[in-house]
Amino acid sequence: MGWLMNRDPKTFHVKSFGCQMNMYDGARMTELLEAQGMTAAVDGVEADLVVLNTCHIREKAAEKVYSDIGRLKREDGSRPMIAVAGCVAQAEGAEIPRRAPSVDIVVGPQAYHRLPDLLNEAKTGKRALDTDMPIESKFGALPARRKQAPSAFLTVQEGCDKFCTYCVVPYTRGAEVSRDWTAIVDEAKALIDGGAREITLLGQNVNAWEGEDDKGRHQGFDGLIRALDALPGLARIRYTTSHPNDMTEGLIQAHGDVEKLMPYLHLPVQSGNDRILKAMNRSHTTRSYLAILDRVRAVRPDIALSGDFIVGFPGETEAEFEDTLKLVSAVNYAQAYSFKYSPRPGTPAADMENQVAAEVMDERLQRLQALINVGQLAFNQATVGKHTQVLLERQGKKPGQLIGKSPWLQSIHLETVAKIGEIVDVEILSAGPNSLAGAELMEKAA
Ligand code: 5AD
Ligand code: SF4
Repeated sequence: MGWLMNRDPKTFHVKSFGCQMNMYDGARMTELLEAQGMTAAVDGVEADLVVLNTCHIREKAAEKVYSDIGRLKREDGSRPMIAVAGCVAQAEGAEIPRRAPSVDIVVGPQAYHRLPDLLNEAKTGKRALDTDMPIESKFGALPARRKQAPSAFLTVQEGCDKFCTYCVVPYTRGAEVSRDWTAIVDEAKALIDGGAREITLLGQNVNAWEGEDDKGRHQGFDGLIRALDALPGLARIRYTTSHPNDMTEGLIQAHGDVEKLMPYLHLPVQSGNDRILKAMNRSHTTRSYLAILDRVRAVRPDIALSGDFIVGFPGETEAEFEDTLKLVSAVNYAQAYSFKYSPRPGTPAADMENQVAAEVMDERLQRLQALINVGQLAFNQATVGKHTQVLLERQGKKPGQLIGKSPWLQSIHLETVAKIGEIVDVEILSAGPNSLAGAELMEKAA
């Protein structure tokens, strides 16, 4: 309190934490504020308005937000106008300005299209809060998409009805909602017109998407992918993140015959032990999970697999944890994410007995990550010598060097005169755990 603040912000900075859906929301908030005549500032401390687009999925997310707010105070004692958005805003609501009086705006992930109104309210010195989950979607109220990087995100589905016992998402993002077919196709076209060559479809349970197409026919997620496949100018389609229960036969087939659909599947399993999966309310078993992967591999043998794992779920024994290691070895993931279990207030698992000690979780996470890293390196090394295509996304460290992605989502650097946004034929020369080197092929890749 007592910090001096500019009540008519002209510049802003959006800082997004957490998942790709938050990155997408951050991009749309940026476009929204630009449409109000504001300018994006390069540096957060200098911006007149800072939007902290927060994540609540793990750890002491809320605590981190409060320390981030504290750090926004400038040397001369002044501060920017501060908005807290995202899932911590949804979960904590009015508690945020109570604990951090310097916060001017609190806005949840389903209400950020109202940011301009909240800003006007805050300009008058009032504190503005909106954590509604309105029936009418924010998407219709957001400005059209603008200039895009070669790889763009497109949220097609939000929320979750699965209620895994550890997870806060059904509470912060609300129930499963699929966006409208036409709105999605139109947004994809706008992204392509703005320069996107690749679109990653996003949703907490993206493969649960369903709706009616423009002819009134019922469609599943694979139908949507096929519609995007038909859009000229688009080269690549990806999607994340999926639940095993929604891996339909149609979607698996699409991996075999939709050329633009990249050979990469992020399919979280969380644990390799059936008792733990049951306690997590995952509604699949290790066997049914592995059977899905077999079916996907049958139609697309080179598919790169990825997953999420939680170690130290309440009651997890050493032997149960070792089942997770066994599953990781059996699958040969190209890449995977692993986390220590973090009790989320309000979720069933937070009240379970036998919470696992922090040291035990640390040790398990280290062992799991070591195994995942070995697999990741092996996957990358197995691609050395292959001829493939790289979508150039950004400048590398050295002059003339560009960095892009292979179909298997590997980061590959190469020297080329081609431009960002182009797709070049490349031979993979060498591979580390996180990055690979390639050489451009002057003749077309086989
Ligand atoms: N603790 C640890 N990890 C979690 N995840 C979700 N909730 C928790 C939690 N409470 C992980 C899951 C999920 C990923 C996005 O985050 O692995 O797939
Ligand atoms: Fe974090 Fe989940 Fe919210 Fe994304 S949806 S910001 S991962 S809590």
